[in-house]
This record gives sequence, C-alpha cells and structure tokens, in this order.
Amino acid sequence: MTTDTLTIDIRKTAESRLPQLDMNNLPFGKVFSDHMFSADYESGQWKNLQIVPYAPLTFSPSNMAIHYGQSIFEGMKAYKNFKNDILVFRAEQNWERLNKSAHRMCMPAIPEDIFMEGLRELLSLDRGWTPAKDGCALYIRPFMFATDEFIGMRPSETYKFMIFTCPVGKYYSEPVKLKIETHFSRAAQGGTGSAKCAGNYAASMYPAKMAQLEGYNQVIWTDGSEHKYVEEAGTMNLMFLINNVLITAATSDSILDGVTRKSVLTLAKEWNIKVEERKVTVTEIVEALKKGEVQEAFGVGTAATVAPVSNIGFEGTDYKLPEIKSDSLTNRILIALDDIKYDRVPDTRNWITRI
Ligand code: COI
Repeated sequence: MTTDTLTIDIRKTAESRLPQLDMNNLPFGKVFSDHMFSADYESGQWKNLQIVPYAPLTFSPSNMAIHYGQSIFEGMKAYKNFKNDILVFRAEQNWERLNKSAHRMCMPAIPEDIFMEGLRELLSLDRGWTPAKDGCALYIRPFMFATDEFIGMRPSETYKFMIFTCPVGKYYSEPVKLKIETHFSRAAQGGTGSAKCAGNYAASMYPAKMAQLEGYNQVIWTDGSEHKYVEEAGTMNLMFLINNVLITAATSDSILDGVTRKSVLTLAKEWNIKVEERKVTVTEIVEALKKGEVQEAFGVGTAATVAPVSNIGFEGTDYKLPEIKSDSLTNRILIALDDIKYDRVPDTRNWITRI
C-alpha cells in the first residue's frame, strides 16, 4: 500500500479470528484484533513499514528494552457510528504525547505520517473489530521500544514502533474506591511521571496491590517529595467537584498530561463551570470530605474514560462520596464525550479522525 509519502507492506491474515469474537463479552485488553502495524528505526531512519497478522515477536535476551526500560506507549480509542465509519478520538494528541515521552526517554520521534497512516491502514483493514455498541470501543495501543542487542548503559540505537488494537468494554464496571497513598510514590519531581513510559506503570503495581488488600481498587498518588499534594489516581488523572468548582492537579513533570483530562476541562469551561488547575493539597481534600463538600470525584483516562469514585480512604478512615445521580457533572461529561465519540453531535472541536 503506497500513500503520497510512504509505503506500507501489508500481509493479511489467512484466516480472520473475528468470527470467534463475542462482542457481548469484551474483557479489557485480552482480545487482540487480526493485524498489527510495525516500523523499525535504524541508522537514523524509520523503515520496514508493515502490517502483518498479530503474532508474537522474537527478540534477543539482550534486548535493551527488557533490561533498561526504554519502552513507551499510548492509549487511544476508536468508535463506530451507525454508518460503519470509524471515529478515532484526538489521535494527534496521542501522537504528540508519544513524541514527548520519546524525547524524555532518549528515543527517536515518530513522524506524524507514519503514526497516522499506520493507524488508518490498520483500523481500516481490521474495520470489523471496532465494536458498534454503546460503551464499547476499539482500544488502540501504539508503543515503541529499544531493540539494540546490548547491555552497556546508553540509549539504544535501534527501535521498533508498533500499533495493535483490542475491542474493549468497560475498564471499571463499578465506581472506584481509592486510597490516598502517603508512603509510596508514582513519580518524582524531575523524574519520568509525565512520560508514558513502561517503568512508571511497573513502579505503581506494588502500592496498588497493597491498597487492593485493604479493599481499594487503586491509590490516589501524592507528590514524591512531601506526599502533600494529590497528583493522579491509579492510571488516571483525578478531578473533584467541590462547592461547584471542578478542581484537578495542574500538570507538571510528575503528572501525565491526559487527553481525556484536557477534553473534560475544555467541556467544563465551555459550560461555564469554574475550573481550577492547580496544586491540590491532601489536607483540603480530606477537610472537604469531612465536611461533606466533595460533591463528586472521578478519574479520567483513555481506558477508564470517566470513572466515578465512590470512596476515598485516608489514614485508616474511609469517606463515602454521594452516589452519582443522573444529572451529575460526571454523567453530563460522560454523555457529552460519548456523543462526540459515537458521532451523535457535530465534531465542532476537530477532535475526530474519520476512517
Ligand atoms: C490508558 O488509559 O490508556 C492507560 O494507559 C491505562 C492502561 C494502563 C490500561
């Protein structure tokens, strides 16, 4: 397949696995579509652009990504409208963020045409894998990792960029219970918190596991220096509605600049809701919880979209939040985002790539 600027070799699967897919039972991240896109970086250039059947990769035990973690990824979603068109939500934002992560991790940038054309070709070849069902989507996972066979300490000189996709249902089936974490950190000032790199997720697993033993789904991350400020929740950005003000942590080098986060803030501002992006202290959240002033809290992210929070634990006390009503801000945001993603309203903000 040749576009104006680049050539993608396409080798189709001999037999699609689509007939075995149960669109009514889509666990998150376990079922993968028929094909995957890949490109290789060598001698300062991206080459070998191809789409091939989804299959295991082989690489050397000395692959640098395994040892030193030069590995970054993105999460995006595509939706299907009633005309069978595929709509990808804010794809260029993920492309930009992938390159910011690449920069922080000493990895090469991926050119926009390779990212976008690879995505277009893959999604159109696997068109049948995008669910045409409310609440479901095609989760898209672009990622890049080091491929040098070398265990000395320096950035790799070769890389692989890939995209695969999976049809998914809900990430969280119930409102989430969060524990404010004041011992462990997800990210440090000056660290890699704002990069979507594999190591950030690896470091988050143990604290999350400990919180799960206490009955929580995830932790609310606090800053790595003093544990005084609220940063993120699990793999999501976190928002609070307190006294009718929508409050969220300002982005920093320890906070991921979430695409859903910025979309929610845009909508809230358009609706004349007072928005505060600033440092949010644990103390003010706990005080507001004690006084019953936290009207709503929700996590926002690509996988989870908008995840209402039902409980917040802090130092052994569990605070229950009010139940999410149909006229809540959480629901209003969910509906407004879904209307855009499923093509039920005009795309006035240019957030959609149509395939
Ligand atoms: C996403 O929301 O896309 C994420 O990266 C979360 C993922 C770890 C499941």
